[in-house]
Amino acid sequence: MLLASNRATRGASLRTTPALRLTAFVYVLACPACGGGDSGDPNEPTLVEAPAQAFPPTLNQVGLYQDLVQRTPSPRALPYTPRSGLWSNGLAKERFIVVPQGEAIDADEADWAFPENTLLFKTFVGDDGPVETRIVRTTGGAPEFAAYRWDGDQAALLDGERGVDLEVRVDDETTAHEIPSIRSCEQCHESSPSPVLGFAPLQLAGAAEAASEQVDRLVAAGALSEKPRLDAALDRFEGEELSVLSYFVGNCVHCHNDSGGIASSFDLSPAVAFDAVIDQPTASSASAVGIRVVPGDAAASILFQAVSGETDDREVKSMPPVGVQRRDETGIELLRGWINGL
Ligand code: HEC
Ligand code: HEC
Repeated sequence: MLLASNRATRGASLRTTPALRLTAFVYVLACPACGGGDSGDPNEPTLVEAPAQAFPPTLNQVGLYQDLVQRTPSPRALPYTPRSGLWSNGLAKERFIVVPQGEAIDADEADWAFPENTLLFKTFVGDDGPVETRIVRTTGGAPEFAAYRWDGDQAALLDGERGVDLEVRVDDETTAHEIPSIRSCEQCHESSPSPVLGFAPLQLAGAAEAASEQVDRLVAAGALSEKPRLDAALDRFEGEELSVLSYFVGNCVHCHNDSGGIASSFDLSPAVAFDAVIDQPTASSASAVGIRVVPGDAAASILFQAVSGETDDREVKSMPPVGVQRRDETGIELLRGWINGL
């Protein structure tokens, strides 16, 4: 949202104060040694240092990376990896969180409370380097979104009015990739109780060794108030089951939740997902008639057919319905193993 208002503000000030624009122009001309003039005033605090400011025009001024060639992160930016990310045609992702100085995420409750002006970053990387960097900023009200498009070792803020369609090389194949519009960010990020979708207990903690090491690191750095506890409703699940629930969180729950949004026929949130799918008939008129998950028989399960595409039935709609050109083989094998083992 703020992205749009940033733009409006900048546009307005340029329109109403031509003198200012001229000054900026003269400054660029008079400053040939300034390295293209887009690294900003070194005395201005970066977004990472002053997280409430308007999203700056270039990623340099965001201060996430100390330099955009090596992508060395700022010491304030804590890297993290969710157990299951959103599959994006195989693009690699780098994720970071910056919690405002002196504050911490309250990890006492199962639903985490993020301090205002917490910044979360996600950079998408293809074979030829970074493609885009996304930002979510929490506020007291609606979250704010920004996307920076990379061009070589520079990246500029997009206006976010419409999506940008790109072709990207991933694992030596060319695949389509869309940098979403701000409206699309809102559709996915504002349909769940928390606007932060992947920095959550199930995604960070859980059984995996690496996950618990990462939680210790986040607590030690002061980002989390304490070691998180999983929702008690998940105590009855383990191992592969938690991986499946985490896969749903990463790839399905931003639509399939109980908020009355676009895919409300059933809820894939961790505490209720298995009850909603195992031995349950499909409900949506937009889908094939059948059973979502048939215990012991992935091939006969509509949910599995929808994710894997392993069906001739054209009534079965691909899931997720948008954005998948290359299928997520790891996710498909996880579901196959879980359903066949039920
Ligand atoms: C198709 C749904 C979808 C759209 C559209 C989308 N996101 Fe996300 N985003 C997710 C999901 C799911 C996660 C959590 C999993 C992950 O990190 O891969 C996520 C994670 C993130 C994160 C890491 C913090 C978090 O919430 O977990 C950032 C930052 C982010 N998105 C920014 C954006 C921005 C900015 C836009 C719009 C330009 C956008 N996203 C559009 C689904 C979406
Ligand atoms: C971008 C939003 C979106 C995402 C992401 C998404 N779905 Fe769906 N899904 C829908 C819509 C819309 C429908 C049809 C209407 C409905 O079911 O409410 C649907 C229908 C389905 C159906 C058939 C309907 C039924 O009653 O069983 C299944 C199965 C399904 N989705 C599974 C999944 C799984 C598994 C994932 C994650 C891998 C997923 N979906 C991700 C939007 C989404």
